[in-house]
Amino acid sequence: MAPIALLPFLILNLAVATAAPPLRPRFYEKTCPEAEHLVRDVIKKNMEREPRSAASVNRLQFHDCFVNGCDGSLLLDDTSNMLGEKLSLSNINSLRSYEVIDEAKETLEGVCPGVVSCADILIMAARDAVVLSGGPDWEVKLGRQDSLTASQKDADDIMPSPRANASYLIDLFRKFNLSAKDLVALSGSHSIGKGRCFSIVFRLYNQSGTGRPDPAIDPIFRENLDKLCPRGGDGNVTGGLDATPERFDNQYFKDLMNGRGFLNSDQTLFTYPKTRQYVRLFARNRDEFLKAFVEGMIKLGDLQSGRPGEIRQNCRVVNSRPVDELM
Ligand code: HEM
Repeated sequence: MAPIALLPFLILNLAVATAAPPLRPRFYEKTCPEAEHLVRDVIKKNMEREPRSAASVNRLQFHDCFVNGCDGSLLLDDTSNMLGEKLSLSNINSLRSYEVIDEAKETLEGVCPGVVSCADILIMAARDAVVLSGGPDWEVKLGRQDSLTASQKDADDIMPSPRANASYLIDLFRKFNLSAKDLVALSGSHSIGKGRCFSIVFRLYNQSGTGRPDPAIDPIFRENLDKLCPRGGDGNVTGGLDATPERFDNQYFKDLMNGRGFLNSDQTLFTYPKTRQYVRLFARNRDEFLKAFVEGMIKLGDLQSGRPGEIRQNCRVVNSRPVDELM
């Protein structure tokens, strides 16, 4: 989906991230000491209301950080002169739980206004979603600023399609300083959450234009998927991305080894030799997965654009500027 020729320019931008102070743990220790607790409470409350919100919030980190760094650009609503990322190909009708981030932001603005960036809230929330789903806990680096703009085109160009194969994904992730091992570990986020029939009908009925299903799918699993997603059926019906979609565990990798990956981009990690070894390792050894996953999330969170930013008051809109600053 992404014109790969554009990526070097976008990545270069990430590489020259220098202007902002370095990210560090406990960034808000003095300025908003309760920040991390408060965000976790909001995530927890929302999970009690809707368990899937954990997965939806976790996914936001990937979609924010890959597009011009982790800068909260994903959260900006479109304006009359800016098409943001929310309606881009990979995000429209698919990303959800933006309102959970809004709730966390409102809570923090009530306690320490103008201090904690939306970009940082996303990073804390993505971690908390994993912890509260039974996954590992880790210390996140903070101190990001929120972008002043967003680009639907950049999101369209960069974010991978569920049709992508492992070789494409390895090349894409490498451009973000993420290895094949990071790719497999981070895809382990699909241990939680759901996907739509829209994202898999091609592999059920017409993989690579063959008019046939993807041969890598286990036949019994395929029967179930055919029932869930009949040809010409409702594309918005959802299925679990692994057999335990509310628990952050290594079941996802076991499923891949049995031809029970939901997305093509998942199953291809086992079909392809360079990534298969990591699928095997993580299926066999949960701790290796959790360790590699945390490393991957920290690297993903390190992506920065180096562009000027601000601490937004509302994650959906940039702060208004005094007229003289706009001249
Ligand atoms: C490797 C490339 C990846 C591709 C092609 C991909 C694609 C997708 C797709 C197509 C869905 C289902 C969307 C839908 O049907 O509406 C999905 C869901 C999800 N993705 Fe990924 N993804 C990738 C990597 C990641 C990464 C790196 C993370 C997090 C670090 C992540 C986290 C999630 C989560 C948690 C869900 C479930 C969301 C929910 O239930 O609302 N994905 N992904």
